Amino acid sequence: MEKLVQELKEKLRPKIRPISWAGDKLILLDQRLLPFETRYIEARTVAEVADAIREMKVRGAPAIGITAAFGMVIALIEKKPRSIDEALKVLEQAKNTLAKTRPTAVNLFWALDRMYNKAVESASKTASVNELLQDLEEEAKRIFEEELEAEIRMGIYGAEFLENGDTVLTICNAGGLATGTGIGTATAPIYIATALGKQVSVIAPETRPWQQGARLTVYELMQNGIRTTLIADTAVGLVMYKKLVNVVMVGADRILLDGHVFNKIGTLNEAVLAHEFGIPFYVLAPTSTIDTKSKVEEVKIEERDPDEVRTVRTSQGPVYVTVKDVPVFNPVFDVTPPKYVTGIITEKGVAIQPLHKNLRRLLNLT
Ligand code: MRU
Repeated sequence: MEKLVQELKEKLRPKIRPISWAGDKLILLDQRLLPFETRYIEARTVAEVADAIREMKVRGAPAIGITAAFGMVIALIEKKPRSIDEALKVLEQAKNTLAKTRPTAVNLFWALDRMYNKAVESASKTASVNELLQDLEEEAKRIFEEELEAEIRMGIYGAEFLENGDTVLTICNAGGLATGTGIGTATAPIYIATALGKQVSVIAPETRPWQQGARLTVYELMQNGIRTTLIADTAVGLVMYKKLVNVVMVGADRILLDGHVFNKIGTLNEAVLAHEFGIPFYVLAPTSTIDTKSKVEEVKIEERDPDEVRTVRTSQGPVYVTVKDVPVFNPVFDVTPPKYVTGIITEKGVAIQPLHKNLRRLLNLT
């Protein structure tokens, strides 16, 4: 396994860099403009980092976790605290601001907690704000590097479930754009199976309302030479009925220990249909996406601006497709009950049914 991980790391170098750390600022690919325009923005303040996450200039569970981690470093650079106590206060404020940006993806809160805990640990060892800053910068870089490594590992496990000639149905964008690096989560097995010589194609639903599938997944997979077909979300049932897909692979924004999976709106539809048609349904995510504390009713499903549903995004910007003041319900995630999930594939291995037992086993929890 270790040799293969190193080989694949070399072979699958990221072509697109949605997040780069430039020592004192973040450089982010503005994903709202893709695939029409490749424009990078800079975030130098906590407010700018929060805005980038809230407005989905950067999006996808692991990517917003990584961005928020560097946001904590930016807080110290921006506010220049003069003592360790002041630095911890600055970090607490930054953590609160960044935690309010998006509610569902647990990676955001996981990364903020990890950064804050690192700061507390560092503060117990040094009185120098500079050393604290260095420790935090290293921790954020580590979170970033661990993500790429995790993707390669989950991709190796996931590629075992792909045969030569298979077609994978996915949803949203769970590729490198969503993870800030490398090969993504749900797409990792596809890239790795391809690198190992298997022919694998993808069917990508457009993923209304934000169109991550049409705008991002299609763009990313085609750039990497993967045969991809775009469908309307409403065609998912028919492609399964007609046996045009062999397997479903999706990412996740939060996975509970009992196996409930929160992911992009429409994931539940795919899961129920896959169950009906006997198609395996796999969820791919790093273990940082597993929430070991919450119950299903405690997780907030984000609701966004009604105009996201009233419009479609075009190269000219959003265009209205309905009556401008029609009332809208716009939940952007849903929750899939464990019974519909064939397996959860992480960097630590695969949890199959019964998920409530095997997820605990995977995480070495009693
Ligand atoms: O609203 P988004 O675009 O941030 O939602 C992204 C998703 O739902 C992805 O499937 C999920 O974050 C997994 S990304 C590897």
